[in-house]
Amino acid sequence: MNYRHIYHAGNFADCVKHAIVLSILHSLKRKQTGFSVLDTHAGRGKYDLSSLEAEKTGEWESGIGLAQNSTAEALQDYLSTIHYLGLYPGSPALIRYLLRPQDQLIACELHPEDVKPLRRLFRSDPQVAVHHRDGYEALRALLPPKEFKRGFILIDPPFEKPDDFSKCVEAIAFTRTHFRAGIIAVWFPIKHRTPIRQFYQALKDAAIQDIISCEFLLRPALDPSRLNGCGMLLVNAPYGTQQNIMAIFEALKQALTTENTPDIQYSIERITEE
Ligand SMILES: C[S@@+](CC[C@H](N)C(=O)[O-])C[C@H]1O[C@@H](n2cnc3c(N)ncnc32)[C@H](O)[C@@H]1O
Repeated sequence: MNYRHIYHAGNFADCVKHAIVLSILHSLKRKQTGFSVLDTHAGRGKYDLSSLEAEKTGEWESGIGLAQNSTAEALQDYLSTIHYLGLYPGSPALIRYLLRPQDQLIACELHPEDVKPLRRLFRSDPQVAVHHRDGYEALRALLPPKEFKRGFILIDPPFEKPDDFSKCVEAIAFTRTHFRAGIIAVWFPIKHRTPIRQFYQALKDAAIQDIISCEFLLRPALDPSRLNGCGMLLVNAPYGTQQNIMAIFEALKQALTTENTPDIQYSIERITEE
């Protein structure tokens, strides 16, 4: 396991992912009944962007470093939340912030060094369970969630192995079969188009219904050695999500456009029907 999220925390991809995650959680909170969140690849929870690791790549500077100045309405919830939480919050810290007393979070992290701070962060929190285990395996073991009819599953692997796309397809198919009410979000990198086309085709071949893909591209996806963009695949997305994400993407485009990224593009595409 080479991937450490501290080198990438707060980059443009985190801004995309975290703003969308918050939007989905707000939709879930429209109903009073509790929900369960499974964060299969949680990371360490919070990130010091002044650390040597974060400074080494400086990725956050062209992500949250620019986005934090945005005054766009669509980003204010995300920006005020990270401002409130202090150190840059990873997905479990953001999710925890939005839980009500009737909701729960299960956060899985496999890296032995990153699971330690994650455990510390939620040590005495009765609403959060931290698991040091494989997130894909946990999903099969823990879904459907006990005592919850509603839920959100965030799948955010490092994509350092070639089989992460196919593992995501299997995880989505399993979740749709065993927890149909669950809302699923899968983050994925966009370097060049071929693996993305294959990913979408595999989802269609697996006959998984109700999938949309939200893509945010800093530049055309032509150079396979660079993270040219990223996507969030959403399954069973709540009503109104597409509209919210279009507003988030337009605000991020405005905030992140520089002379290095003059032509940011975004789109939302339906991959399979409801
Ligand atoms: C992209 S990072 C997660 C970032 C986090 N979701 C966030 O938004 O703040 C991916 C994480 O997955 C962990 N990881 C890698 N393989 C895993 C697996 N099979 N199961 C659980 N965690 C894994 C890595 O150690 C890394 O911390």
